[in-house]
Amino acid sequence: MVVVITGAGSGLGRELAKVYSKDNDLVLVGRRMDKLEETRDEIIDAKSVVCIECDITNPQSVDDLKEKIKNIHKDVDILINNAGVGIFGPLEEMKIDDINTLIDTNVKGTIFITRALLPIINKKIMNIISTAGLRGKVNESVYCASKFAVRGFSESLMKELEGRIKVVSVYMGGMDTPFWNNTDHVKDKSRFKKPHEVALTIREMDDDLTSEIHIS
Ligand SMILES: NC(=O)c1ccc[n+]([C@@H]2O[C@H](COP(=O)([O-])OP(=O)(O)OC[C@H]3O[C@@H](n4cnc5c(N)ncnc54)[C@H](OP(=O)(O)O)[C@@H]3O)[C@@H](O)[C@H]2O)c1
Repeated sequence: MVVVITGAGSGLGRELAKVYSKDNDLVLVGRRMDKLEETRDEIIDAKSVVCIECDITNPQSVDDLKEKIKNIHKDVDILINNAGVGIFGPLEEMKIDDINTLIDTNVKGTIFITRALLPIINKKIMNIISTAGLRGKVNESVYCASKFAVRGFSESLMKELEGRIKVVSVYMGGMDTPFWNNTDHVKDKSRFKKPHEVALTIREMDDDLTSEIHIS
């Protein structure tokens, strides 16, 4: 199977790459090639691993990604939309640039890449959302808005693509990843689940019947 994973250079994306690697052709996507290559170097059991730089907020970059994938693989079996950013704080203190980054990355980036790859996807789209897509949280208004949007996108595609492509929404709580490095919103991320543990649970729960995965 050809598995495309966005945000594969760190955190959950890197761990998903490891648990979805066995005998598969992986396409690792992100903006930093060095981080993608670090992930690639940790994978031992894939059929092949390709790293492609792409900024999912940029439609041209996303179109280029599609062409690069088509030149290597005929099509894609699974797209895992994992890339995302977190910026937190009271709404009145949020910078306009940060609001744009959150919406551009989490919402529009996910939509752009899904739209572009859809004609060549065979089996499944998995959207990594968050419990922030299920419940509002203090000082997370824009992040939650972005994840509620991805939930709506995901649920709608589930219906739109029924019988053709399986769509899976994943909702998890905090994970100990670089996601929290530039914020004091969370004081101690070490109490969160390790991304490897979450990736393994996703892999275990990911079968042909499941359309929602909840990990508390
Ligand atoms: N950590 C948590 O507590 C938590 C909880 C629930 C859900 N989530 C969600 O889980 C997903 C993975 O997050 P994580 O915790 O693993 O954080 P992370 O380590 O910061 O990973 C996010 C990845 O997204 C990539 N990315 C960001 N902007 C991008 C862009 N414009 N184009 C392409 N790639 C981009 C980053 O790579 P580059 O910078 O190299 O592009 C990075 O590898 C996110 O969707 C996040 O919202 C996280």
